[in-house]
Formats: sequence, C-alpha cells, structure tokens
Amino acid sequence: MSLLRRLPPVLRALLAQTLAFAVLVALARTGLRLPGLVWLLLQAVLAVFLSRWMDLSPRWAFMQAALPFLVRALWSAPIPAWIYLALFLGLALVFGGGLLSRVPLYHASEDAWEKLEGLLPDRSGLCFVDLGCGFGGPVAHLARVRPDSTFIGVEASPFTWLVAWLRCLPQRNAHIRLGSLWRTDLAGFDVAYAFLSPVPMPALWAKARRELKPGSRFISHSFDVPGETPHRVVPVKGREGARLLVFEL
Ligand SMILES: C[S@@+](CC[C@H](N)C(=O)[O-])C[C@H]1O[C@@H](n2cnc3c(N)ncnc32)[C@H](O)[C@@H]1O
Repeated sequence: MSLLRRLPPVLRALLAQTLAFAVLVALARTGLRLPGLVWLLLQAVLAVFLSRWMDLSPRWAFMQAALPFLVRALWSAPIPAWIYLALFLGLALVFGGGLLSRVPLYHASEDAWEKLEGLLPDRSGLCFVDLGCGFGGPVAHLARVRPDSTFIGVEASPFTWLVAWLRCLPQRNAHIRLGSLWRTDLAGFDVAYAFLSPVPMPALWAKARRELKPGSRFISHSFDVPGETPHRVVPVKGREGARLLVFEL
C-alpha cells in the first residue's frame, strides 16, 4: 500500500477509475441489469472510495466523481475522435514534463526576475541554471542584463521548451535544454534556481547538496526546503507569499 501511495496522484486516480470499472465489468458479467445512470453512479462511488483509500485529497475525489458523467456526456457528443487525441497531445506537450514530478506550469513575476538579478554574485563568468525553466522568462532576462555570464534553462515539456528556446535565441549567453532536471549535473553551476512545488524539494535539496560545489548558491522560488533555514529571504511580487529563498552551499 505504501508503494501505491508513492505513485503520483494522476496515476493513482487512473488506477482507481480502472479498478472501479473492472468491478463493474465483473458485476455485468454475472448478468446483473441496471439502468445506465445507476452504472455511472456506481462507477463514481467506487472510484471515490478507492481514491480516498489511495490517499488522494478530497479535491481529487470530487474530480473522480465527476469523471464518469463527463465521459458519458462527451461519448454521445458529436466530437470527432481526433480532437481528443489532439487535446491529449497538446496537454502532454505543455504540461507533460511536470506531471509525474507534480510540478505545474506557472511563472515567476518580472519583479522576481529583477530580484534574482540582485542575488547573482558580482563576479563575471558565472554559470546559472533554471531547473524547470518554463517559458524561459528568468533565463532570458538574466542573460540580457548579465552578458558577462552564462544562463542555462532545463525544461522537460517539449512545447514549453520550444517557447523558451525561441525566446532565448537572441541571447548568445542563454541556452535552453530539453530534458529532466534530475539528469542535469549541477557541478558546473555557481547558482541553481528552481520554482517547482513542495513535492520535489527534499530530493532537489539532496541533489543540490551532493552536486553543487562549496560556495555556490541554491535559490528556491517560494517553496521551502523542509528542515533547512534559508540564509536570506527576499519577498517578490506574484502570488501571496511569493519569495526567493537563498541557500549558501
Ligand atoms: C513553475 S514552472 C517555473 C518556470 C520558471 N522557472 C519561472 O521561474 O518562471 C516549473 C516548470 O518546471 C518544469 N518541470 C517540471 N518537472 C521537471 C523536470 N523533472 N525536469 C525539467 N523540467 C521540469 C515544468 O514543465 C514547468 O515548466
């Protein structure tokens, strides 16, 4: 069960719906005949029950309850099948990179870009990395204002990467890589920055401690490192509580 709970919520949600569906198929095979609406209700109730058992939050349970009815409504709607495929591919290209690591796509404010600029060491020849660079706003800005240094963005979602890559094309000192931040060796960087979610922070901090050289800096946008006190906290504009947490290695 603990293994199950370690799965990303989206996989647990899919598993709950699949198991609920399997139970209904087994029931139907016994010859049980019920009105369509009752089957839908059964699917919803079972999926919610299994989701709660798998430790999914009430928000997920609500979506799980709505899903069978939504699928039924769309089933009879005159929508060509390729639209679903296109939607799925579109979502995967924009959000796929953060799905399993449970990191959504949102952006640091321009105020955060400027405050980041103030947190870079003064010396030239710095190497900075944005781990999960989204559409590349911070990398493009920093590369523009610090032509003496190199700025790298790493992004796992293909479409998001493409936008960041195009945005940083005019900057010769900015480079956007398509790939996972977990496969990025941090040893060569002076500053590593990340704006992710609470979920990957313990593992990311462990990686930063392991790979960043002494004297380098780790900056987290808004998300704490459990059990660690930042050396500096800089409030920034954006969502409530937005701030840059600076850790010296
Ligand atoms: C919240 S956005 C941050 C954007 C940008 N760093 C900023 O500060 O504006 C997080 C980004 O991390 C990306 N991401 C999530 N997991 C990743 C991973 N394992 N490797 C690379 N990128 C990832 C997501 O696709 C998303 O674009």
